Amino acid sequence: PYPAYRMLREHDPVQEHPFGFWILSDHADVVALLRAGHSVDARRTSLGGAAQEQYELLEGDGFNVLNRSMLDRDPPDHTRLRSLVSRVFTPRSIAALEPEITALVDAALDRMAAAGRADLVEELAFPLPFTVISNMLGLPPTDQVRIRDLSGRLVRSLEPVFEPEALTDISQAGAEMTAITRELIGWKRANPADDLLSALIAAEDGGDRLSDDELVAQVVLLYVAGHETTVNLIANGTIALLRHPDQLALLRERPELTGNAVEEFLRYDSPVQQTRRITLKPHVAQGREIPAGAFVIACLASANRDEKFWGPGADALRIDRENARQHVAFSVGPHHCLGAALARLEGRVAFERLVRRFPDLSFAGDVEWNGRINLRGPARLPVAVRA
Ligand code: HEM
Repeated sequence: PYPAYRMLREHDPVQEHPFGFWILSDHADVVALLRAGHSVDARRTSLGGAAQEQYELLEGDGFNVLNRSMLDRDPPDHTRLRSLVSRVFTPRSIAALEPEITALVDAALDRMAAAGRADLVEELAFPLPFTVISNMLGLPPTDQVRIRDLSGRLVRSLEPVFEPEALTDISQAGAEMTAITRELIGWKRANPADDLLSALIAAEDGGDRLSDDELVAQVVLLYVAGHETTVNLIANGTIALLRHPDQLALLRERPELTGNAVEEFLRYDSPVQQTRRITLKPHVAQGREIPAGAFVIACLASANRDEKFWGPGADALRIDRENARQHVAFSVGPHHCLGAALARLEGRVAFERLVRRFPDLSFAGDVEWNGRINLRGPARLPVAVRA
């Protein structure tokens, strides 16, 4: 997608798409839009056209469960939901996960070493964040295969999807996901423990602050956001390193750069390529006025490669880039990723251990991409290792 983003930035950085939505692709415009306090509630769009139809269908009988999560809510709901979850999702509780994350990474690397060859997505990039968020929430390992399939179908709602069959599929996945989550919540009510889900249930029971539907939606959001994104950080970062042997060598020489390398991977090949806002009032970008009620896509991945912000080396991978942390891969403003600290921790531990353990990590076949526009990463990443 990167040549296409470059074309957009060079020729039409504030684009009105023929389908009726707008696309912003410059760093400054993306940041300004996300900080301007517009809506994230797609039902507020008054555009009509294909984008409108998509959201009406998703609101239909299948009910897209994510619509009631904080990701799709404006104040005061957003403020209330976010503060409830951040209360139980504290920096201290995240930092305390490091030993568990290290053990999970090492177990994955052991399996890879024993096999000599492996699909890095299947062995490490997917199971690591998936297991961590499942354990944090306190979910039983049963149902995980089904949930994995459902969540992969559900996140297609984060992309421009217009075919009726695809929309029906998303709706069905949403409905099934809701049913499973309700069962899990019921089970957890009977078996409370020291985990995130029990804490959210306690918050719901403790007062009138979280409705039943909202509880389901927050759980699904945490579950989906907890693994459908970090998988791409680990897999895209590995691809970036294998394609830039000088950077891999530098990381091996200077492991203390790993934290910064993770920021650079997030910038260089962003796990979440875009997000969107509905303008609540006219919004001006580069002298062009976007009307109120417009559906605007903020292209995070393009902003992260914008030469006007990063300078002429924007397309290069440089794990020691000084301002790498200024990427917008976690968004900015009120919806800034709530799981950023967790994703950074998982990424740092995974790359520290992977690079140290396998000095001759290499590709062992073609990368197969997942075909997604937004949560873009490989579906399969065959690698060879020699322990
Ligand atoms: C929101 C990216 C990992 C939980 C977001 C948004 C982005 C994002 C771009 C904001 C969307 C917007 O402004 O419209 C990422 C990336 C990740 C990652 C790139 C991994 C590399 C995680 C993890 C969790 C998580 C591990 C939790 C376990 C959330 C939640 C929100 C969110 C709850 C909603 C915040 C709100 O609406 O206030 N993430 N995320 N994310 N993320 Fe993440």
